[in-house]
Amino acid sequence: MKLIEKDLSKVEGKNILVRLDLNVPLNNSIIEDTSRADKILDTLKFLSNKKSNLILISHIGRPKGRRINNLSLKPVANYLEKKLNIKVNLVENDIFSLKKENLFKNKNDEIIMLENIRYYENEEKNDKDFAKKIASLGDIYVNEAFSCSHRCHASVSEITNYIPSFGGILLNKEVTALNKITKEILKPVTCIIGGAKISTKIQVIKNLIPKFDNIIIVGGMANNIIKFKGHEIGKSINEHGCEKIIDQIFSLAEKNNCKIFYPEDFLTGKSLDDISNYKKINQVENDEMILDIGTSSIGKIKKLINNSKTILWNGPAGYFENPNFSKGSYEIAKTIAERTSEKKLYSVLGGGDTISLINKLNLFDKYNFVSTAGGAFLEYLEGKELPGIKALS
Ligand code: 3PG
Repeated sequence: MKLIEKDLSKVEGKNILVRLDLNVPLNNSIIEDTSRADKILDTLKFLSNKKSNLILISHIGRPKGRRINNLSLKPVANYLEKKLNIKVNLVENDIFSLKKENLFKNKNDEIIMLENIRYYENEEKNDKDFAKKIASLGDIYVNEAFSCSHRCHASVSEITNYIPSFGGILLNKEVTALNKITKEILKPVTCIIGGAKISTKIQVIKNLIPKFDNIIIVGGMANNIIKFKGHEIGKSINEHGCEKIIDQIFSLAEKNNCKIFYPEDFLTGKSLDDISNYKKINQVENDEMILDIGTSSIGKIKKLINNSKTILWNGPAGYFENPNFSKGSYEIAKTIAERTSEKKLYSVLGGGDTISLINKLNLFDKYNFVSTAGGAFLEYLEGKELPGIKALS
């Protein structure tokens, strides 16, 4: 993959098409979480300092080829303009009517942003003519959108066939971090995986087992294992019909000498807003829900973290939204943060709930890498080749 920061001589005076993922949550044109926009500010400042003309491309939501007003990038353009202190001109004209020679005609201090690229059905069809048209507006293309690189779409994949294409600064950071937990791993390596549904992460678990020393399963997912092992889980969330998946996980782990850890004591409640009750694995009653891991499980997980040189964490240990059930997740977050700051381990975190948790604890900056990519992060961990990355190599 050619990287833009290594080819800086190429950017001066050029039109650079930058594919971003500005798919931020909007509510009545208000951006509810600006993390994705904030993350790319440094790249944009850097490229605009190089006196290049920036043309930003992004999607927002899933308009499926239709112009849907509340999925306009206007609020995002306004936000970037304020943050960068550079005019960001949202071009609403049909892309097919744009001509390179008419862009950046008068103004120097201006960034152009194309309107939501998914207003065009050609985007998701990875359409050649559409990709060629977008490419014709620039001299160089930069993919700075790891989080949509799992999509085989025109502005992510096909476009690279028509214009010199580079990986962006952030994209490179993300790929380097993910390689450190999938390819160039410093062992012992431990994965802590949570979330509600084991079936959505089964491919990730199967792909990691041969490389990892420990897989710690927590959160709703662990309930399936506890039930599979013959214990009462009461009203706890669980997924039906996943016995075969669990069986596969255990036999694959045994074959590969990977230890599967699941919690054996808990904090339970009768409802999500209840106070907590401490229970051992054989004490959960049928009107209770498992909502956090217990002290003995926390102790064992901390020990595994302390003995690891690399940690991947995706998914909290309990219902941390209620402080009565937040201890397990908090302890994991703090232990990984401490070991990372002592340079005792390399840590990569990902997943929406994990990010809200570490934001709540003000620990976002305390890990080696936090991925804000959802689907792309999981697909990479599943061992799949992402079309947007493949297109750059
Ligand atoms: C994301 O939010 O994960 C990316 O922006 C991709 O969005 P999509 O799932 O709608 O393709």
